[in-house]
Amino acid sequence: MTSPLAIELQTLQSAAQAAISAATDLPELERLRVHYLGKKGELSLILKGMGKLGAEERPQIGAVANEVKEALQNQLESRKQELQEAEIAARLAAETLDVTMPGVSRPQGRSHPLTQTIDRVLDIFVGLGYTVATGPQVETDYYNFEALNIPADHPARDMQDTFFLADGRLLRTHTSPVQIRYMETHQPPIRIVAPGRVYRRDTVDATHSAVFHQVELLAVDRGLKFTDLKGTLEEFVRQMFGESLPVRFRASYFPFTEPSAEVDVQWRGKWLEVMGCGMVDPNVLQSVGYDPEIYAGFAAGFGVERFAMVLHQIDDIRRLYASDLRFLRQF
Ligand code: PHE
Repeated sequence: MTSPLAIELQTLQSAAQAAISAATDLPELERLRVHYLGKKGELSLILKGMGKLGAEERPQIGAVANEVKEALQNQLESRKQELQEAEIAARLAAETLDVTMPGVSRPQGRSHPLTQTIDRVLDIFVGLGYTVATGPQVETDYYNFEALNIPADHPARDMQDTFFLADGRLLRTHTSPVQIRYMETHQPPIRIVAPGRVYRRDTVDATHSAVFHQVELLAVDRGLKFTDLKGTLEEFVRQMFGESLPVRFRASYFPFTEPSAEVDVQWRGKWLEVMGCGMVDPNVLQSVGYDPEIYAGFAAGFGVERFAMVLHQIDDIRRLYASDLRFLRQF
Protein backbone atom coordinates (compact mmCIF):
# COMPACT_ATOMS: atom_id res chain seq x y z
CA MET A 1 0.00 0.00 0.00
CA THR A 2 1.31 3.37 -0.92
CA SER A 3 1.05 5.93 1.84
CA PRO A 4 -0.80 9.22 1.15
CA LEU A 5 2.37 11.15 2.04
CA ALA A 6 4.33 9.34 -0.69
CA ILE A 7 1.63 10.26 -3.19
CA GLU A 8 1.74 13.87 -2.05
CA LEU A 9 5.49 13.86 -2.51
CA GLN A 10 5.21 12.49 -6.04
CA THR A 11 2.52 15.01 -6.93
CA LEU A 12 4.74 17.77 -5.60
CA GLN A 13 7.68 16.45 -7.61
CA SER A 14 5.86 16.39 -10.93
CA ALA A 15 4.29 19.82 -10.38
CA ALA A 16 7.68 21.28 -9.44
CA GLN A 17 9.41 19.61 -12.40
CA ALA A 18 6.91 21.05 -14.84
CA ALA A 19 7.25 24.54 -13.33
CA ILE A 20 11.06 24.43 -13.35
CA SER A 21 11.20 23.34 -16.99
CA ALA A 22 8.83 26.15 -17.91
CA ALA A 23 10.79 28.86 -16.02
CA THR A 24 12.12 31.45 -18.46
CA ASP A 25 14.44 33.54 -16.30
CA LEU A 26 16.63 33.32 -13.23
CA PRO A 27 14.44 35.34 -10.83
CA GLU A 28 11.50 33.08 -11.64
CA LEU A 29 13.68 30.03 -11.02
CA GLU A 30 14.69 31.42 -7.62
CA ARG A 31 11.03 31.99 -6.73
CA LEU A 32 10.28 28.34 -7.58
CA ARG A 33 13.17 27.12 -5.43
CA VAL A 34 11.84 29.06 -2.42
CA HIS A 35 8.30 27.96 -3.15
CA TYR A 36 9.07 24.23 -3.25
CA LEU A 37 12.27 23.71 -1.26
CA GLY A 38 12.46 26.77 1.05
CA LYS A 39 12.10 26.56 4.82
CA LYS A 40 8.38 27.32 4.57
CA GLY A 41 8.07 25.68 1.16
CA GLU A 42 5.78 22.94 0.02
CA LEU A 43 8.21 20.12 0.78
CA SER A 44 8.65 21.24 4.40
CA LEU A 45 4.88 21.51 4.67
CA ILE A 46 4.41 17.88 3.62
CA LEU A 47 7.19 16.67 5.89
CA LYS A 48 5.46 18.19 8.90
CA GLY A 49 2.92 15.39 8.51
CA MET A 50 5.66 12.80 9.11
CA GLY A 51 5.17 12.98 12.88
CA LYS A 52 1.96 11.01 12.52
CA LEU A 53 3.67 8.11 10.71
CA GLY A 54 4.56 4.79 12.24
CA ALA A 55 8.18 3.89 13.03
CA GLU A 56 8.28 1.57 10.07
CA GLU A 57 6.95 4.00 7.50
CA ARG A 58 8.89 7.04 8.63
CA PRO A 59 12.35 6.09 7.24
CA GLN A 60 10.75 5.04 3.94
CA ILE A 61 8.97 8.36 3.50
CA GLY A 62 12.12 10.12 4.67
CA ALA A 63 14.09 8.41 1.92
CA VAL A 64 11.46 9.33 -0.70
CA ALA A 65 11.48 12.95 0.51
CA ASN A 66 15.27 13.09 0.15
CA GLU A 67 15.10 11.71 -3.36
CA VAL A 68 12.46 14.26 -4.34
CA LYS A 69 14.52 17.04 -2.82
CA GLU A 70 17.69 15.91 -4.56
CA ALA A 71 15.97 15.48 -7.90
CA LEU A 72 14.47 18.96 -7.71
CA GLN A 73 17.78 20.51 -6.63
CA ASN A 74 19.55 18.90 -9.58
CA GLN A 75 16.89 20.06 -11.96
CA LEU A 76 17.01 23.61 -10.57
CA GLU A 77 20.76 23.64 -10.98
CA SER A 78 20.75 22.45 -14.57
CA ARG A 79 17.90 24.78 -15.53
CA LYS A 80 19.85 27.60 -13.95
CA GLN A 81 22.84 26.80 -16.13
CA GLU A 82 20.68 26.64 -19.24
CA LEU A 83 19.15 30.02 -18.50
CA GLN A 84 22.55 31.58 -17.78
CA GLU A 85 23.95 30.28 -21.05
CA ALA A 86 20.91 31.54 -22.92
CA GLU A 87 21.38 34.94 -21.32
CA ILE A 88 25.02 35.13 -22.44
CA ALA A 89 24.13 33.99 -25.94
CA ALA A 90 21.42 36.65 -26.15
CA ARG A 91 23.82 39.34 -25.00
CA LEU A 92 26.46 38.28 -27.53
CA ALA A 93 23.87 38.31 -30.29
CA ALA A 94 22.77 41.81 -29.28
CA GLU A 95 26.34 43.11 -29.23
CA THR A 96 27.37 41.69 -32.57
CA LEU A 97 29.15 44.29 -34.72
CA ASP A 98 28.10 44.81 -38.28
CA VAL A 99 31.49 45.31 -39.87
CA THR A 100 29.90 46.21 -43.18
CA MET A 101 28.29 49.36 -41.75
CA PRO A 102 29.81 52.62 -43.03
CA GLY A 103 32.09 54.27 -40.42
CA VAL A 104 31.57 57.68 -38.85
CA SER A 105 34.24 59.88 -40.35
CA ARG A 106 35.70 62.73 -38.30
CA PRO A 107 37.10 65.70 -40.19
CA GLN A 108 40.85 65.91 -39.83
CA GLY A 109 42.48 69.27 -39.20
CA ARG A 110 45.40 70.43 -41.31
CA SER A 111 47.52 73.53 -41.78
CA HIS A 112 46.24 76.42 -43.84
CA PRO A 113 47.65 76.59 -47.39
CA LEU A 114 49.52 79.77 -46.45
CA THR A 115 51.13 78.04 -43.46
CA GLN A 116 51.99 75.11 -45.69
CA THR A 117 53.61 77.48 -48.18
CA ILE A 118 55.62 79.28 -45.47
CA ASP A 119 56.75 75.94 -44.02
CA ARG A 120 57.91 74.84 -47.45
CA VAL A 121 59.88 78.07 -48.03
CA LEU A 122 61.50 77.78 -44.59
CA ASP A 123 62.35 74.11 -45.15
CA ILE A 124 64.18 74.93 -48.36
CA PHE A 125 66.25 77.72 -46.80
CA VAL A 126 66.95 75.77 -43.62
CA GLY A 127 68.28 73.08 -45.99
CA LEU A 128 70.57 75.75 -47.49
CA GLY A 129 71.95 76.64 -44.04
CA TYR A 130 69.66 79.54 -43.05
CA THR A 131 68.28 80.18 -39.55
CA VAL A 132 64.66 81.26 -38.93
CA ALA A 133 64.24 84.73 -37.34
CA THR A 134 61.17 86.84 -36.55
CA GLY A 135 60.29 90.41 -35.52
CA PRO A 136 57.30 92.45 -34.30
CA GLN A 137 54.36 93.38 -36.53
CA VAL A 138 53.97 96.76 -34.80
CA GLU A 139 57.14 98.62 -35.74
CA THR A 140 58.73 101.99 -35.34
CA ASP A 141 59.46 104.34 -38.20
CA TYR A 142 63.14 103.72 -37.58
CA TYR A 143 63.09 99.97 -38.27
CA ASN A 144 60.49 100.01 -41.03
CA PHE A 145 62.01 102.97 -42.94
CA GLU A 146 64.87 105.00 -41.50
CA ALA A 147 67.42 102.24 -40.90
CA LEU A 148 66.52 100.78 -44.30
CA ASN A 149 67.77 103.92 -46.01
CA ILE A 150 64.30 105.44 -46.40
CA PRO A 151 64.49 108.88 -44.72
CA ALA A 152 61.35 110.86 -43.87
CA ASP A 153 61.14 112.83 -47.10
CA HIS A 154 62.15 109.92 -49.33
CA PRO A 155 59.75 109.40 -52.25
CA ALA A 156 60.08 105.62 -51.77
CA ARG A 157 57.75 105.93 -48.75
CA ASP A 158 54.96 106.30 -51.28
CA MET A 159 55.79 102.84 -52.66
CA GLN A 160 54.18 101.37 -49.56
CA ASP A 161 51.11 103.00 -48.10
CA THR A 162 51.35 102.64 -44.38
CA PHE A 163 48.86 102.09 -41.55
CA PHE A 164 49.96 104.37 -38.68
CA LEU A 165 48.96 103.91 -35.05
CA ALA A 166 47.90 106.83 -32.82
CA ASP A 167 51.17 106.63 -30.87
CA GLY A 168 53.27 107.18 -34.01
CA ARG A 169 54.20 103.54 -34.44
CA LEU A 170 53.04 101.66 -37.51
CA LEU A 171 52.08 98.24 -38.85
CA ARG A 172 55.15 97.02 -40.67
CA THR A 173 54.80 97.29 -44.44
CA HIS A 174 57.39 94.58 -45.09
CA THR A 175 59.53 92.04 -43.22
CA SER A 176 62.74 93.98 -43.98
CA PRO A 177 62.85 95.54 -40.45
CA VAL A 178 63.74 92.03 -39.22
CA GLN A 179 67.01 92.47 -41.15
CA ILE A 180 67.92 95.49 -39.02
CA ARG A 181 66.82 93.95 -35.72
CA TYR A 182 68.81 90.80 -36.42
CA MET A 183 71.97 92.58 -37.58
CA GLU A 184 71.86 94.85 -34.51
CA THR A 185 72.15 91.81 -32.25
CA HIS A 186 74.39 89.51 -34.32
CA GLN A 187 77.72 89.64 -36.08
CA PRO A 188 78.42 88.30 -39.60
CA PRO A 189 78.40 85.76 -41.09
CA ILE A 190 74.60 85.94 -41.07
CA ARG A 191 72.09 83.81 -42.93
CA ILE A 192 68.46 84.27 -41.87
CA VAL A 193 65.02 83.62 -43.26
CA ALA A 194 62.21 85.60 -41.58
CA PRO A 195 58.52 84.83 -42.20
CA GLY A 196 55.75 87.17 -41.06
CA ARG A 197 52.57 89.16 -41.61
CA VAL A 198 52.75 92.61 -43.20
CA TYR A 199 50.20 95.41 -43.77
CA ARG A 200 49.59 97.89 -46.57
CA ARG A 201 46.85 100.32 -47.43
CA ASP A 202 46.35 98.60 -50.75
CA THR A 203 43.11 98.41 -52.64
CA VAL A 204 42.01 94.82 -52.30
CA ASP A 205 41.63 92.91 -55.58
CA ALA A 206 42.36 89.45 -56.95
CA THR A 207 46.11 89.79 -56.40
CA HIS A 208 46.32 92.41 -53.60
CA SER A 209 45.38 92.21 -49.94
CA ALA A 210 45.82 94.78 -47.15
CA VAL A 211 47.23 92.04 -44.92
CA PHE A 212 49.57 89.51 -46.42
CA HIS A 213 52.67 87.48 -45.66
CA GLN A 214 56.29 87.82 -46.65
CA VAL A 215 59.41 85.82 -46.09
CA GLU A 216 62.56 87.90 -45.80
CA LEU A 217 65.98 86.56 -46.70
CA LEU A 218 69.28 88.05 -45.55
CA ALA A 219 72.86 86.90 -45.91
CA VAL A 220 75.87 88.98 -44.81
CA ASP A 221 79.47 87.82 -45.09
CA ARG A 222 82.81 88.78 -46.57
CA GLY A 223 82.82 88.81 -50.36
CA LEU A 224 79.17 88.05 -51.18
CA LYS A 225 78.29 88.97 -54.78
CA PHE A 226 75.16 89.39 -56.87
CA THR A 227 75.84 85.99 -58.45
CA ASP A 228 75.53 84.44 -54.96
CA LEU A 229 72.10 86.05 -54.63
CA LYS A 230 71.03 84.93 -58.09
CA GLY A 231 72.27 81.39 -57.59
CA THR A 232 70.54 81.14 -54.21
CA LEU A 233 67.21 82.41 -55.54
CA GLU A 234 67.37 80.21 -58.64
CA GLU A 235 68.01 77.17 -56.47
CA PHE A 236 65.13 78.20 -54.24
CA VAL A 237 62.69 78.67 -57.14
CA ARG A 238 63.78 75.31 -58.60
CA GLN A 239 63.08 73.54 -55.29
CA MET A 240 59.86 75.46 -54.70
CA PHE A 241 58.22 75.18 -58.12
CA GLY A 242 60.22 72.57 -59.99
CA GLU A 243 62.61 72.88 -62.91
CA SER A 244 60.01 73.87 -65.47
CA LEU A 245 58.63 77.18 -64.16
CA PRO A 246 59.89 80.11 -66.27
CA VAL A 247 61.64 82.74 -64.10
CA ARG A 248 63.06 86.14 -64.94
CA PHE A 249 65.15 88.69 -63.05
CA ARG A 250 64.21 92.28 -63.83
CA ALA A 251 66.27 95.31 -62.77
CA SER A 252 64.38 97.31 -60.15
CA TYR A 253 64.80 99.74 -57.29
CA PHE A 254 64.65 99.44 -53.50
CA PRO A 255 66.23 102.04 -51.20
CA PHE A 256 67.82 99.32 -49.05
CA THR A 257 69.45 97.34 -51.88
CA GLU A 258 71.84 98.31 -54.65
CA PRO A 259 71.69 96.92 -57.25
CA SER A 260 68.11 95.68 -56.96
CA ALA A 261 65.98 93.28 -58.94
CA GLU A 262 62.52 91.83 -59.00
CA VAL A 263 61.84 88.21 -59.77
CA ASP A 264 58.85 87.24 -61.85
CA VAL A 265 57.46 83.78 -62.49
CA GLN A 266 55.20 82.82 -65.33
CA TRP A 267 51.63 82.34 -64.14
CA ARG A 268 48.58 81.89 -66.38
CA GLY A 269 50.42 83.28 -69.37
CA LYS A 270 51.51 86.42 -67.52
CA TRP A 271 54.60 87.40 -65.53
CA LEU A 272 53.72 87.64 -61.83
CA GLU A 273 56.09 89.48 -59.52
CA VAL A 274 56.87 87.22 -56.56
CA MET A 275 59.93 88.76 -54.95
CA GLY A 276 62.18 91.76 -54.64
CA CYS A 277 65.88 91.40 -53.98
CA GLY A 278 69.30 92.97 -54.21
CA MET A 279 72.67 93.58 -52.59
CA VAL A 280 72.28 95.20 -49.17
CA ASP A 281 72.92 98.94 -49.52
CA PRO A 282 76.15 100.06 -47.75
CA ASN A 283 74.09 102.67 -45.86
CA VAL A 284 72.03 99.85 -44.29
CA LEU A 285 75.17 97.95 -43.23
CA GLN A 286 76.48 101.18 -41.71
CA SER A 287 73.25 101.80 -39.79
CA VAL A 288 73.82 98.59 -37.82
CA GLY A 289 77.55 99.25 -37.36
CA TYR A 290 78.90 96.83 -39.97
CA ASP A 291 81.84 98.03 -42.08
CA PRO A 292 80.71 97.94 -45.76
CA GLU A 293 84.38 97.80 -46.79
CA ILE A 294 84.64 94.40 -45.11
CA TYR A 295 81.15 92.92 -45.42
CA ALA A 296 78.65 92.58 -48.22
CA GLY A 297 75.12 91.21 -48.05
CA PHE A 298 72.19 90.21 -50.16
CA ALA A 299 68.53 90.29 -49.26
CA ALA A 300 65.20 89.27 -50.74
CA GLY A 301 61.54 89.51 -49.81
CA PHE A 302 58.95 87.01 -51.07
CA GLY A 303 55.20 87.38 -51.24
CA VAL A 304 53.83 84.18 -49.68
CA GLU A 305 50.28 84.54 -51.05
CA ARG A 306 51.57 84.80 -54.58
CA PHE A 307 53.69 81.69 -54.09
CA ALA A 308 50.64 79.85 -52.84
CA MET A 309 48.60 81.07 -55.81
CA VAL A 310 51.21 79.88 -58.29
CA LEU A 311 51.75 76.56 -56.50
CA HIS A 312 48.08 75.69 -56.26
CA GLN A 313 46.62 77.55 -59.26
CA ILE A 314 44.49 79.78 -57.00
CA ASP A 315 42.82 82.50 -59.05
CA ASP A 316 41.98 85.02 -56.31
CA ILE A 317 44.06 85.97 -53.26
CA ARG A 318 40.87 86.61 -51.25
CA ARG A 319 40.09 82.89 -51.22
CA LEU A 320 43.05 82.48 -48.85
CA TYR A 321 41.30 84.55 -46.18
CA ALA A 322 37.70 83.48 -46.65
CA SER A 323 37.92 80.45 -44.31
CA ASP A 324 35.71 78.55 -46.73
CA LEU A 325 36.10 74.89 -45.82
CA ARG A 326 35.18 73.75 -49.33
CA PHE A 327 38.30 75.62 -50.46
CA LEU A 328 40.57 74.78 -47.53
CA ARG A 329 39.80 71.05 -47.63
CA GLN A 330 41.54 70.85 -50.99
CA PHE A 331 44.98 71.36 -49.44
N1 PHE B 1 60.88 94.74 -48.67
C1 PHE B 1 60.64 94.71 -50.09
C2 PHE B 1 59.14 94.78 -50.33
O1 PHE B 1 58.38 94.57 -49.45
C3 PHE B 1 61.14 93.44 -50.70
C4 PHE B 1 62.63 93.33 -50.64
C5 PHE B 1 63.25 92.72 -49.58
C6 PHE B 1 63.43 93.87 -51.64
C7 PHE B 1 64.61 92.59 -49.51
C8 PHE B 1 64.78 93.76 -51.60
C9 PHE B 1 65.37 93.12 -50.53
O2 PHE B 1 58.71 95.09 -51.43
